[in-house]
Amino acid sequence: MRIGIIGSGNIGSTTARLFAAAGHEVTVANSRGPESLRELVGELGQHAQAGTVADAAREADVVLVAVPLRAYSDLPAEAFAGKVVIDANNYYPERDGRIAELESGDTTSSELLARHLSGARVVKAFSTMNFRPLGSEGRPQAPRAERLAIYLAGDDDGAKAIVAGLIEEIGFAPVDTGGLHDGGARQQPGAPIYNNPMTAQEAEAAVTSRRS
Ligand SMILES: NC(=O)c1ccc[n+]([C@@H]2O[C@H](COP(=O)([O-])OP(=O)(O)OC[C@H]3O[C@@H](n4cnc5c(N)ncnc54)[C@H](OP(=O)(O)O)[C@@H]3O)[C@@H](O)[C@H]2O)c1
Repeated sequence: MRIGIIGSGNIGSTTARLFAAAGHEVTVANSRGPESLRELVGELGQHAQAGTVADAAREADVVLVAVPLRAYSDLPAEAFAGKVVIDANNYYPERDGRIAELESGDTTSSELLARHLSGARVVKAFSTMNFRPLGSEGRPQAPRAERLAIYLAGDDDGAKAIVAGLIEEIGFAPVDTGGLHDGGARQQPGAPIYNNPMTAQEAEAAVTSRRS
């Protein structure tokens, strides 16, 4: 699969490494441009290259966005049209500035991104786990019960299935938290499953208890 990664920081570089190691063609982009990514793509090997944000999105089947949330509206929406977009972002007002719609709880950060990237198939995932366990705890050979959960939420079942497959390939267990609104809210900072690594079974129990 061709995977675009927008953001080359903690989450962007970690997911780029995991997907390239799994054999996917990865294009990484950041705010400073492809030249600044030479060292990273050199480390990632033959399956990785650097690009602009627009090229990384336009040429990909799946695009993972891992930027400070405040930057979401800078993304060139037309390049993401029709793409499966993985939203790894979180809202931290002290970093991102206060966003009234999020403060009121009327909407979620993933819905803001989906509204901006209209026509994209947005799935919230890779947003609750710190980049260190994400980089080290994947167990591709292990049965589901022994894997840590990575949550996903969205309104497009086909897009969710594609993201679930990627999560499995890198050795985690996909656990569905629901649609983009309710399921996205269940993954946000402060939620019980946020930054709280759990096995698949524990995670499913936690998600079910929040829904009932
Ligand atoms: N850190 C974690 O463990 C973790 C876990 C789950 C989710 N998250 C969420 O994932 C997102 C990224 O976190 P992070 O820790 O990876 O951040 P980070 O290390 O600060 O990296 C952010 C990246 O975003 C890029 N960026 C900023 N504005 C951009 C723009 N307008 N266009 C393109 N790229 C842009 C930066 O580009 P430059 O390199 O050019 O500055 C940088 O590569 C955040 O929303 C965070 O809350 C983080």
